[in-house]
Amino acid sequence: MTAGAAEARLELNGQSATEGLARACAGFAVPGGVFLLSGGLGAGKSTFARAFVRALMGADEEVPSPTFTLVQQYGPLDRDGAELEVWHADLYRLGDPDEVLELGLDEAFGTAICLVEWPDRLGSFAPKDAIELIFDFAADKAAGPEARRVTARVPDTWRAAFSSACEEAGMGLTWT
Ligand SMILES: Nc1ncnc2c1ncn2[C@@H]1O[C@H](COP(=O)(O)OP(=O)(O)OP(=O)(O)O)[C@@H](O)[C@H]1O
Ligand SMILES: [Mg+2]
Repeated sequence: MTAGAAEARLELNGQSATEGLARACAGFAVPGGVFLLSGGLGAGKSTFARAFVRALMGADEEVPSPTFTLVQQYGPLDRDGAELEVWHADLYRLGDPDEVLELGLDEAFGTAICLVEWPDRLGSFAPKDAIELIFDFAADKAAGPEARRVTARVPDTWRAAFSSACEEAGMGLTWT
């Protein structure tokens, strides 16, 4: 975890809770904001990304998984007179961190809102000020197959925005 970051824990007891977290994050995200989405297969990274993109681009937006294209771009659309673009990357199949340059992703980190699955593939291209969300299945098996938990590593610059967005969305947040 980068210096100047705090860690929080969230329980997501169903897909709609994951989508609620995504909408909450989309509400405060600005160009240059990067969300690194980690966690194993089926943990909910793409579910989060799809709801996030739709919150900004419209509920009818097709959001295919960028498994083979590696990146998928949305927009630009006009928001308050400024151009808003969202990039969704799935780097599971990234061969070499240098491909990040070919994809234009390093530039997008500065200009767009970026959602990155499998961010461990970024190597030294990982942006410093990103919000990290680590998805996992709930430890408590009694919580059911749809229960997930998220560990959020939130840089201090985003902490107040993240906290109040989660609160407004009615999500229980525990800072550790
Ligand atoms: N609480 C939950 N949050 C997110 N997804 C859930 C939840 N409960 C059940 N699911 C289901 O789990 C699956 C999550 O798949 P998703 O594609 O989002 O995972 P992923 O982390 O992107 O995996 P991959 O690494 O394979 O791309 C979906 O089928 C979704 O319907
Ligand atoms: Mg995925």
